[in-house]
Amino acid sequence: MLHSRRAFLTYLGVGSYAALVAGQPAAASDFPSPRRKGKPLHFFAPIAASSADELVVPTGFRADVVVGWDHPLGSKAPDGSAERFGFNNDFIAYFPIDALRGGRSSTEGLLWVNHEYPNPLFQSGYTPADYRAGKKKTPGQIAAERLAVGGSVVHVKLDGEQWKLVANSKFHRRITAAYPEIALTGPASGMLNSAVGSLGNCSGGRTPWFTALSCEENYPDFNGTDPKDFFYRWSDDPKQAIDETRFGWVMEVDPYGELPPLKHTALGRFKHENAAVTRGAKGHVVVYMGDDEVDQHLYKFVSDEPDDPKATRADRRKRLQEGTLYAADLAKGRWIPMVFTAQTAKVIQESAAYAAAKKIDSTFQITNQAELLIHTRIAARVLGATPLDRCEDCEVHPRDGSVYVALTNNTRHGNLYGHIVRLVEDNDDAATTSFRYEIFLAGGPQSGLACPDNLAFDHEGNLWVVCDMSSDKMGSGAYKPFGNNGLFVVPTTGDSAGDAFQFASGPIEAELTGPWFTEDGKTLFLSVQHPGELTASLDKLTSHWPDGGRAIPRPSVVAIRGF
Ligand code: FEO
Ligand code: CA
Ligand code: CA
Repeated sequence: MLHSRRAFLTYLGVGSYAALVAGQPAAASDFPSPRRKGKPLHFFAPIAASSADELVVPTGFRADVVVGWDHPLGSKAPDGSAERFGFNNDFIAYFPIDALRGGRSSTEGLLWVNHEYPNPLFQSGYTPADYRAGKKKTPGQIAAERLAVGGSVVHVKLDGEQWKLVANSKFHRRITAAYPEIALTGPASGMLNSAVGSLGNCSGGRTPWFTALSCEENYPDFNGTDPKDFFYRWSDDPKQAIDETRFGWVMEVDPYGELPPLKHTALGRFKHENAAVTRGAKGHVVVYMGDDEVDQHLYKFVSDEPDDPKATRADRRKRLQEGTLYAADLAKGRWIPMVFTAQTAKVIQESAAYAAAKKIDSTFQITNQAELLIHTRIAARVLGATPLDRCEDCEVHPRDGSVYVALTNNTRHGNLYGHIVRLVEDNDDAATTSFRYEIFLAGGPQSGLACPDNLAFDHEGNLWVVCDMSSDKMGSGAYKPFGNNGLFVVPTTGDSAGDAFQFASGPIEAELTGPWFTEDGKTLFLSVQHPGELTASLDKLTSHWPDGGRAIPRPSVVAIRGF
């Protein structure tokens, strides 16, 4: 009962609670609206929204920093330089140290951690004032930023209740935007061959053969120079400018170091948010993927051949090289194949979008499957995919196989708070071509969360949701009730299905990202990304998390224990 009462107090405020207890209707001014919530979960007492510069977790839980930005890893880059943990850690996947021998250790493992984007002020001393002035970046500044993105493999071990890096482990290593060569696979590999490095690494997924999928999201930001936007100006140095066709893919990385990294072009090129891997009814590998931009689409990839768990890892990963990419048409409940045929070619080439792209770049064309995948968005749009409100993470429910998709928001047309959609594939087969959908949860003051982003399931089938209100809007206007970005637990069955209970609140201007449970469900790894990101100069820091005092803010991976 105590937990239940606390949740009511958290959501309604004491006045509304008293009104409900007295059996009187609450006044409309008792905002947020006093929607009755089911019983909170048995394992924690929800916290209240917070605007503090700290990572708040419920009583009885602890959150310890495992590794943070710039921590020396003790490993060497291909050019011999010492490697450090990158900036803005995002997606995390845990790999049991003994998984390749059939074990499932939850006390020692490897973390693959994405590093999404740099903060030039912290990495290269390039200030927001420099941005506004359109000042050119030096090659040295760009070089420093290239090392801050990509991803890290770190070897971690539980020591008592605290996860620590294993000193001098052979597994620690980096992939950065300067990583020498990453081969591309699939239909566009004949045109593109290989890429230098990876960047924009947002969310991702873990394959059944224990590799990480790392998704390249906002790749156009890196060469961009428009001072009105948040661009990194790497094109100021022609030697370090990126070839954009080599980015916007899904990169596969083997944290155990047995297999080289690959970018799989069969999964399409767009602003890839994530890659949730499951199997179809006959064993085909299915990957659900969001494209995080307003009015872009939801996709899935289905392999041509089923996965063979007895095959070698090198053979199993080939399933990601041959298959069909589909985009979702929610209105008709169908998956549209992104396949170049005489019929689709005609629709694509005669579209207004095609003509518009050609006007911007006269060399633009879609005349084969490789080009269709390089320009996936245009094909999806003209072939009938539904424009969505910023498709972020997708996760497959561990019990019923339905697919939960977070749509963060679309401020252009008034969806300020976002929502979570649930897809049910026909015949419960992830490899099928038709589905139904429903709105599982609508963000807003009535539900207690706004702008859902990354998702994860625990063993009980509860959905864990982290939020991404943008730092410049957080705590004000329509976003005032929510405080800082938080982490919420949402039951998917029972009386409380669809009710959000707050589990954590992030520090100032941070986003919580990359939630991932160990196999035993007793540790939750979580990224704290971009604390203090609106800092305009180093003598006016807006956050000091995690070190406190006057310390510089440091994006870090934390381990939460107490489950
Ligand atoms: Fe990188 Fe869509 O969040
Ligand atoms: Ca995200
Ligand atoms: Ca986001």
